[in-house]
Amino acid sequence: MKEVGFIFDLDGVIVDTAKYHYLAWRKLANELGFEFTKEQNELFKGVSRKRCLEILLDIGSVKATQEQFDTWMIEKNEDYLAYIQKMDASEILPDVPRVLQYLKNKNIPIALGSASKNAKPILEKVGLLSYFDSIVDGNSVTKAKPDPEVFLIAANNLNVKAESCVVFEDAVAGIQAANAAGMIGIGIGDVDILHEADYNFKDFTEIDDSFLELLLNKNHK
Ligand code: BG6
Ligand code: MG
Repeated sequence: MKEVGFIFDLDGVIVDTAKYHYLAWRKLANELGFEFTKEQNELFKGVSRKRCLEILLDIGSVKATQEQFDTWMIEKNEDYLAYIQKMDASEILPDVPRVLQYLKNKNIPIALGSASKNAKPILEKVGLLSYFDSIVDGNSVTKAKPDPEVFLIAANNLNVKAESCVVFEDAVAGIQAANAAGMIGIGIGDVDILHEADYNFKDFTEIDDSFLELLLNKNHK
């Protein structure tokens, strides 16, 4: 067993892909005849693609057959994929590589714990895939966040006890999943939204080496 492991969410933590998810969902909403706002997009953070479509159709009061539902899932993802095709390292959020490199230098095991089924190609595109010892994504789980499954699989893959893992998350559902897993949850983003986290930071520029060191030496939860 390793002493401590670090788990990163992807969208909104490593890369700012929420804007691309938003544009793809908004296009679909507009095609179906209604508006979809950035505020409503907040509800989609950390939420699976299927659940997002269910919420979107509720917002627009649209009833769908199973066939339409499946078609719209595919359409949204194709639009999203067109955006991520163009991604490169410039879309990595500030100071993420510094933190990954710090952990790598100390041989700390690192996992991805994401709801996205597009996680691996995105990490490849932005050149960060090699930092991760394990990728747990929307293809690996049966239960979505706030269920702890994604993080528990990650801990298991890293060979680290759940209570010795640290999770970086930008979604309420993600922080709740970390809490349910008995892990240390670090909220990245708005403290008012992520108040259930153990620690809060606006972004990784606020996380310095001494804080990382504290996490490494902490007698975990
Ligand atoms: C999460 C995003 O990381 O992944 C959600 O925060 C998104 O907004 C979910 O719906 C699923 O992503 P994908 O890439 O499988 O559609
Ligand atoms: Mg996220």
